Amino acid sequence: MFEFLKRKKKTDAFAVLSTDMHCHLLPGVDDGSSNFNETVSCLKAMASVGYKKIYFTPHFQAHYPNVEDDIQRRFAELKRMIDKLGDPSLPEVAGISGEYRFDPQFARQPGKDKVLPLPGKRLLCEFSLHFSNYMPIETFAEYIRLGYTLILAHPERYPYLGIHSKEIETMKSMGILFQINVLSLNGFYGEAARKKGFDYIDHGMVEYLGTDTHNMRYINALLETAENKEVLKMLDKHTFLNSQL
Ligand SMILES: [Fe+2]
Repeated sequence: MFEFLKRKKKTDAFAVLSTDMHCHLLPGVDDGSSNFNETVSCLKAMASVGYKKIYFTPHFQAHYPNVEDDIQRRFAELKRMIDKLGDPSLPEVAGISGEYRFDPQFARQPGKDKVLPLPGKRLLCEFSLHFSNYMPIETFAEYIRLGYTLILAHPERYPYLGIHSKEIETMKSMGILFQINVLSLNGFYGEAARKKGFDYIDHGMVEYLGTDTHNMRYINALLETAENKEVLKMLDKHTFLNSQL
C-alpha cells in the first residue's frame, strides 16, 4: 500500500507546481479519504513528489450535500490534529475550498449563498461526467461579475466536450481558467482523457494542474506519474499558476 516508503529514488517532479489545489483528502466527507490516517499517508506521499502546500476541495453536489460551515469546522479539526503531529515530512495544510458541480441541481445563488473559494476568489467548478447539454453560462457570468475567477476542473474528462467545441470557446472567452488532472496525463482515466489533457496543455489553454487525489489508489498513480518522462518533459516546458496559491 505504502509504495512511496519503499522507493529508493526520490523524485520531486511536482516541486515546480509546489501547490496542489484539488484533492479530496478531508476525511469522511465525500468519496475521498475515509479517515485521518489515510489522509496523513496521502499527504506524506504527495510531499515525497514535491508538493509543499495542499488545498482541500471536497465535492459540493447533490450526491454529497456538504454544507460550507460544517466543512470549515471539519477542516479546522484536521488542521489541529496535523499541527499536533508536528511531522516535518508533511506538506502545509493550506486551506479549505470546494469543487462545485454546476448542474441543474446546483443550489447556490451567486452573491447570496456561501461558497468556499480558493485564495483570490478562485472557484473550482466541475460538470457531470455524463452527457448533459446544461451549460450554466449565466451562473458563470454572475460569479465573474461578482469578482470570482472560475476554474473548470478536468475539462479533459468530459467525453462530450471537445477541445475545439463552442462551449469550450465560450468559457475561454469569458476568462474561465482550466485545470487538468495530472493523473490524466499518465492514462489514469483512459487514453482519450490522456490525449486531450496534453492537447489542452499544448494549446496553451491550461492554467492549473491538480491531483484530484481521493485515496492511496490515486496516490500510487501519482507516484507513477511523477516518473512519466512525457509528463516530466511537459513540466519543464510549461508554466502553471499553482505556486501563486
Ligand atoms: Fe475532484
